Order: sequence, then structure tokens, then C-alpha cells
Amino acid sequence: ASMETISDKLLAWYDVHARSLPWRARPGSPLTDPYRVWLSEVMLQQTTVAAVKPYFAKFTERWPSVEALAQAPEEDVMAAWAGLGYYSRARNLVKCARAAARMGGFPETEVELVKLPGVGAYTAAAIAAIAFGQRAVVVDANVERVVSRLFAIAQPLPASRKTIREKAGAITPDDRAGDFAQAMMDLGAGICAARDPDCALCPLAADCQGYASADPARFPIKAAK
Ligand code: ADE
Repeated sequence: ASMETISDKLLAWYDVHARSLPWRARPGSPLTDPYRVWLSEVMLQQTTVAAVKPYFAKFTERWPSVEALAQAPEEDVMAAWAGLGYYSRARNLVKCARAAARMGGFPETEVELVKLPGVGAYTAAAIAAIAFGQRAVVVDANVERVVSRLFAIAQPLPASRKTIREKAGAITPDDRAGDFAQAMMDLGAGICAARDPDCALCPLAADCQGYASADPARFPIKAAK
């Protein structure tokens, strides 16, 4: 029998069940536009997918490229951002667009990406993996929950972060790291929900130590108050 890894199973599931989101690759185009990936990831930092969608559409219609956004007056961008909240993101958005445009486009590595205004470790990893196909380890709150359950991590957050990152790194594939990251996010947003995970539908149930323990929802373990 062949040895199907966790990433193989998750990617096969993603090929069928990926959410269709406006910043993801179109059929036939293997990688996504770094501008659209960056813009979506910044918008999604403190905001839900549902709330982001109309803003993403508005921004990409009005400013279809990083060069276009780089030329926009800051006050126009601030006005377009109104309602999304956390306005330092909008100010950094303009700064970052101008820096990236000066560089001739977004850099491709995490090390370079993280130097851009408003781009932290998570966003740099997400852009490197999703837009440039690099093997980056992308860990957001959803991924933390999925990994905590998969490996039944006994330590509570935030002490478990280092272990979670190591485990996430160990299951990240060399190929399709961007799809893998987004598959983990989709799994965490749907099936592996914080409350009431639907393990009957999970492609990773057979590999999940939390599922084997009969109470996956207790992971991530909550610290004693
Ligand atoms: N949340 C943050 N980034 C995301 C992405 N690329 N897909 C789905 N949910 C996300």
C-alpha cells in the first residue's frame, strides 16, 4: 500500500472542497497575483472573509495593480477603507504599495517580504507560499487549532506556539505549500471549527490524535485561569 501523507490527503480534499475566494488562483493559472494575495491577507488580518469580500472587490476594481495603488492619494485609500477598521492597516497599505512599486513588484522571499510596512511574519509567509509557491510555514489561529488537535498538543497556548510551528513545518509539503496553507485555513474555518468540529467529514480524521482521544474539541487546551 502506498504511504499517503497528511499533506497528500489534505490537498486531495482541497482540490474538491476549496472555498472559491476572489483572491485565489483562477482555473488554469497556477499561481495567484502577489498584489491580490497581499491585499487580501492584510484585509483578513482582523476581519472575516465575508466582511472582506466587498472591500476586496472595490479595491481591486479601483486599483487593479500595486502600481495603481502606489499612485493613489492616501486620503482616497483611507476613505475606501472606511468600515474595515484598524486604520493603521490602511496607512501601511499605501506605504507598502509604494515600497513594492519602487522595488518593481513584491519580493518573493519571507525575509524580504517581512521588511515591508504592515507585513508581519504571518503575512510574509502567506504571500511567499500562496503567491510565489515557496515552502513557507503559514500559521494563523485556525491553523493553530487544527495542528493542536492533529497532534493532541497537551500544552496550552501560547506556550505551545513553538511546538505547533514545528509540527506545522513537519507536515508542510515542498510542493503546493500555498494550497496546503489555504487548505489548513479552510479546514479550520469549516470542519475543524472551534466549537463542534465535524470529524465525520474530515479528511485527516484517521491521522488525528485529537479525534483518537474522543474529545478533539478540548484542543487547543485552555490554560487554567
Ligand atoms: N484567512 C486569511 N487568509 C486566508 C486565505 N488565503 N484563505 C482563506 N482564509 C484566509
